[in-house]
Amino acid sequence: MRTRLWISIVGSLIAAQCFGVFAESSAQTTPKAMASEQSAAAPEDIEAQVNLDVEVFQGFFAKRFSAVEFADYRNGVYALDEASREQWLEIEEFPPYEFSVDDGETLFETPFANGKTYADCFDNGGINIRQNYPFFDETLGEVITLELAINRCRESNGEQPLGYKKGAIASISAYMASTSVDQLMHPEVASDAAFKAYNEGKKFFYSKRGQLNFSCADCHMRVSGLRLRAEVLGPALGQATGFPVYRSKWMELGTLHRRYAGCNKNVRALPFAAQSTEYRNLEYFQSVMSRGLTINGPSARK
Ligand code: HEC
Repeated sequence: MRTRLWISIVGSLIAAQCFGVFAESSAQTTPKAMASEQSAAAPEDIEAQVNLDVEVFQGFFAKRFSAVEFADYRNGVYALDEASREQWLEIEEFPPYEFSVDDGETLFETPFANGKTYADCFDNGGINIRQNYPFFDETLGEVITLELAINRCRESNGEQPLGYKKGAIASISAYMASTSVDQLMHPEVASDAAFKAYNEGKKFFYSKRGQLNFSCADCHMRVSGLRLRAEVLGPALGQATGFPVYRSKWMELGTLHRRYAGCNKNVRALPFAAQSTEYRNLEYFQSVMSRGLTINGPSARK
């Protein structure tokens, strides 16, 4: 089974290469800035570089899928795949994640042993703020994702942290996302330290890894929209906006970092831990690339 999958992945990529997909687009999927290591830069230079990256990245998809509306990229692969889109729209009418969102709300509102709640840790009581994550915390010098903030809230209130891939944390994150649907994502990169984290995420995204030697960009840019056995490869643009997702394959909700680990394993690379610095920087980079899209989590996926 597995071997056949790899043969088929490699086959798809070779086919893509033969049809010129690689040759035609590789220049656009590897931004020039990758080559030069960035050192200390003025804030306006950082902004200019990041804006340029966003323009190149989003421009790549605008050209590759000229019929797809920008706003639709928040719907992942269903922005590209007409055939599975219909099925998905039907599923979204009676969303399989609804119970988890309700669970998440209950968990969110249940006081900790000390009488405080999650609402005490977040701006605006935690409602309608998903779009502000991830962000680079200038004081702590690191990327803070929503799931990390949820666990730090627990710990600062004397509670044990939750596992990061599924279960309670996914439900709480899903509930919080559900209060932010249609809010604009616009993460900033406003300092040298933030730029460094951003660049590390970017490097991760474009680096080939695993025994199959594929980068995220190989599958989610260069051959995006093409079929890999039963699955159409979704666009990298918008990948962070719809999480957590309920996957039919998982039969439950999972977080973005659970999916990252799955995609690393698919190319036979060792996954990093959920909420490791590597995955947080990757999420930061992906979120910056999705600037201008709106939050649409939780969502249903195959
Ligand atoms: C061998 C090809 C391959 C590689 C390499 C790969 N992925 Fe994936 N990925 C897939 C497939 C297939 C899916 C399921 C279809 C889809 O949603 O794109 C997927 C799905 C995803 C999803 C879920 C999108 C959604 O809307 O539910 C995310 C996020 C993702 N990949 C991120 C990454 C990242 C980040 C990397 C690099 C670390 C990566 N992938 C590398 C094949 C790949």
